[in-house]
Amino acid sequence: MCSILGLSSDSDVAPTLVASLKRMEYRGYDSVGVAIKNGSNILVKKGVGKVNDVNASIHMDKVNGNVGIGHTRWATHGGVTVENAHPHLCNSGPVGVVHNGIIENYAELREDLEKNHNIVFKSTTDTEVIPNLLQIYFEKSHDVKRAIMDTVGKLKGHYAFVALFNTGELVGVRNHEPLIIGIGATNNLLLTSDIIGLPENISSVIYVDNNQFVIVKDHEYDIYDFEGNVAQFTIKTIPKSYQNVTKGSFRYYTEKEIFEQPNTILMAGEGDNNCLEKITQSIRDSDYVYVTGSGTSYNIAVIAKYLFSRFAGKKVEHVMASEMKYSSRYLVSDSTLFGISQSGESADILESVSIGKKKNAKILSMVNSKNSSLARESIHSIGLNCGPEVGVAATKSFTSQMAILYKIADKLCENCLAINFHTISNAYTKMLSNTSHIQELAKSIKNIQNLFVIGRGIHYPIAKEGALKIKEITYVHAEGIAGGELKHGPLALMDSSTYVIVINPDDDAYVDNISSVHEIKSREAKIIGISNKPDPSYDFWIKIPTIREELYPLIEIIPLQLISYYLAVERGIDPDYPKNLAKSVTVK
Ligand code: G6P
Repeated sequence: MCSILGLSSDSDVAPTLVASLKRMEYRGYDSVGVAIKNGSNILVKKGVGKVNDVNASIHMDKVNGNVGIGHTRWATHGGVTVENAHPHLCNSGPVGVVHNGIIENYAELREDLEKNHNIVFKSTTDTEVIPNLLQIYFEKSHDVKRAIMDTVGKLKGHYAFVALFNTGELVGVRNHEPLIIGIGATNNLLLTSDIIGLPENISSVIYVDNNQFVIVKDHEYDIYDFEGNVAQFTIKTIPKSYQNVTKGSFRYYTEKEIFEQPNTILMAGEGDNNCLEKITQSIRDSDYVYVTGSGTSYNIAVIAKYLFSRFAGKKVEHVMASEMKYSSRYLVSDSTLFGISQSGESADILESVSIGKKKNAKILSMVNSKNSSLARESIHSIGLNCGPEVGVAATKSFTSQMAILYKIADKLCENCLAINFHTISNAYTKMLSNTSHIQELAKSIKNIQNLFVIGRGIHYPIAKEGALKIKEITYVHAEGIAGGELKHGPLALMDSSTYVIVINPDDDAYVDNISSVHEIKSREAKIIGISNKPDPSYDFWIKIPTIREELYPLIEIIPLQLISYYLAVERGIDPDYPKNLAKSVTVK
């Protein structure tokens, strides 16, 4: 989603703001802008496009001033235009705002401001009401704190914003969207929606709580709740891996993150066996367990069902986070709700947790950001520990999530799986050491329109995840299908121009998959087989190492990630910033 930033410093803030915006671009990248206090003016520079391109043309990093705000946008209200890009100033100019989230009642606020205060709006965003309300209330009270309290009293919806007053105050407000204060040396105070926005020299942070705001003035900061009471807080240190994240020698973050998996798979849930134990115990003790997530994390929820039932006889139900609201009447009270999320900030999962809480569910979670909202809403939360994932399409977080599921399943069945994750790590190294055949495949299929991925049993959610990756970063229409369902519809789409990827390790689904392959081949479609065993019916064979049968899901996803990545590159698409998507989707 949108990234919001504010920085107060001893020196010019624009270069740091622009560098931080570049790192946070994965949250939205259709437009970008900064506003800097320069004397008693607030200067705004903004444009449509990605940070580097816009900066090259309008030099956002060259504005002078020691306090400023910045934004990268993922459009929700109003098209992608310069007028709709943030920051937005109030009508008369002395207050600027960058915003993440949605102001649900903006239309009525806007009408009131137009009618009763003669405000002329310049954009079609929901955001622009905020600086105008702040300015109107500030003119009344001449008190920034009062103006914020009055403004948040008017706003409905989930939002966080950072405001800059020409009197020098920098303000951050949090209502169900993330906001972090970074405290650095040399009087650097940064407000950010994401720790990736922090410059290298800031490692101390405060996670602002919901319904709180911070006022920064003259290098001091005060945190209040929405009633104006002074708020308690703790200062935490963020892990080194989150500071100054770079691509290293890789061309894209997505590539780097795929290739990091031999290491990240070993880190999943590590160092917190106690928490894993508690999560396992809660699942074991619960009659009803719901597993929920969105996108890739939802595919993990489906895998949880297969793993926990097969290895522990534990019946669990998966619910798409965005569907929880409509399934809530079927939720059994006093159940366990296990939320899966890389970011821990997706609006859908946070909503599903709040629905669960109303039904007295015990909340467990698995997240990559241990201080995220989801982690804080949970009684036990286990960390993926896979380091920052910048590529919009989840890759290494998926395998880390799966590793944790396997660890829980193993505990549930009293060590029946006894997995040595070094075996998995070695298999990854092997598959990643030579990817030339997958690159050749990507080249040969770069003009396809449709791709199907089939898998049976636990390989079905892997097929769905493979298809999701292909859709997300290559824009090729892709569908993940349970092998047996082919004959119930999808075969109608097969002809000589169709390619079907078959996930087919040598396990109990092997023979049935080969039957599906023949059905597909008789419609002249081409087969890409992902398997440890060759078969003459494969037009293209991607060999995976032979490992214990129950562990194949952990390794068969790697070729699917590689196909997606190399196909994106072949099609001239930047896989890190696919169109119309964003990472941490914090709106419903
Ligand atoms: C967005 C991303 C997906 C991701 C999903 C869930 O839609 O584009 O790649 O799987 O959010 O994100 P989460 O952080 O909750 O796992």
